[in-house]
Amino acid sequence: PETDADTLRTPIVAVLGHVDHGKTSLLDRIRGSAVAAGESGAITQHIGATAVPLSVISEIAGELVDPTDFDLPGLLFIDTPGHHSFSTLRSRGGALADIAILVVDVNDGFQPQTLEAIDILKRTETPFIVAANKIDTVPGWRPNENSPVQQTMESQSERVQSDLNENLYEIIGELSDNGFSADMYWRVQNFQANIGVVPVSAETGEGVPDLLTVMMGLSQRYMKEEMAIDAAGPGVGTVLEVKDTQGFGTTLDAIIYDGTIRADDTIVVGGLQGPIVTDVRALLRPRPLEEIRTEQTFEQVDAVAAADGVKIAAPDLDGAMAGAPIRVIRDRNRSEVIAEVESELAGIEVTTQEEGVVVKADTLGSLEAISSTLEEEEIPIMRAEVGAVAPRDIRVAETANEPTHRAILAFSVEVLDDARDLAEQEEVKLFENDVIYQLIEEYDDHVTAIEE
Ligand code: GTP
Ligand code: MG
Repeated sequence: PETDADTLRTPIVAVLGHVDHGKTSLLDRIRGSAVAAGESGAITQHIGATAVPLSVISEIAGELVDPTDFDLPGLLFIDTPGHHSFSTLRSRGGALADIAILVVDVNDGFQPQTLEAIDILKRTETPFIVAANKIDTVPGWRPNENSPVQQTMESQSERVQSDLNENLYEIIGELSDNGFSADMYWRVQNFQANIGVVPVSAETGEGVPDLLTVMMGLSQRYMKEEMAIDAAGPGVGTVLEVKDTQGFGTTLDAIIYDGTIRADDTIVVGGLQGPIVTDVRALLRPRPLEEIRTEQTFEQVDAVAAADGVKIAAPDLDGAMAGAPIRVIRDRNRSEVIAEVESELAGIEVTTQEEGVVVKADTLGSLEAISSTLEEEEIPIMRAEVGAVAPRDIRVAETANEPTHRAILAFSVEVLDDARDLAEQEEVKLFENDVIYQLIEEYDDHVTAIEE
């Protein structure tokens, strides 16, 4: 039961999947804009958030959605570029996303980043559905723009239907191989026990009404209670990205998932050297239905309430980390809030040992994911940090006694030129990959080669 202080916030939906399987295009279709078209190389460079209000969802979903059935305000979609780890999207040791859409190209099926996404969804117990995208590419497909999917599937020739079904059942089989019982979404009764597969086309909009209907229904049915928040309370969020914004210096792209952040708040942010306490200088926001990364001139706002994306401008943000917590102090005890951020950071900290490999990752979430995998494989870690590979990391790695430990595992981070040279000189082996299990596989192969 809700109290007067409770407001229902927007569920946070992560859109994830392998590179080029159509995550951005799908969101584009939903937004009715053409961000993907303007993207260089059609690769999404940054994480963005898109708030889609219930009114827009019900317009797109047409007869499938009756807006009076819902009291959640809409959905907040977070687009994750395929080469970027979804594990950035963390909060308090769990998943930032309440729910996820795993986009799989119907022709391409499961690929490395699909598997990586599945692993993280499993670990964080995030409910998800699968969008089997690009159904319009089945040879002989006759598109019906924006049509609900069963309708358009029935209108296709027998041949097209059977080709599509074959691909869809392959995806269902892959899900089952990975421990998830799945079926076409219209046959799923209990979305907590079974993964629903929604055939869609980001190109023609077919199945998009179904996708939104299922997402909205799922949130309303299974997550409504978790969405109740004290909207006026001090804001809590997660850093998605730390980046320069012209005129504002170093800023944070953040998702606020509880309470409100105001333009005159003092905040505590997780940084490389511990918590950073700073005064917000400006809150910058994209206009509704636009995405942070496409917005050139930002609108300054007085406050942002959960759940929403916001760009935070404040001094001293240089050491802030992607994936780190953000907390508003406001009328709370300052040292208490700092202690909370400290303990959250400590909770992520990896157990390091005197002897082991060096791990560098782009975000706290990915660092956490790699480290726990290494731990499972009993590979010791000497140092684990967020950030580019620098010469001092080579200096640390070269102190390892075991030849197999003279290694740096770099996930989605830059290797500075002088660090690369130094590594060569000191015979420290560098491993670079944007897929966690591939990174670890490469390292394992190297160890096997040394041992033989
Ligand atoms: P990354 O951000 O790089 O991981 O890729 P993404 O998953 O966001 O894929 P994106 O939306 O950029 O789409 C990749 C390519 O597939 C683009 O050329 C799209 O036009 C195309 N594409 C996406 N969805 C569809 C679809 O439903 N049908 C067809 N025919 N093409 C699609
Ligand atoms: Mg993309």
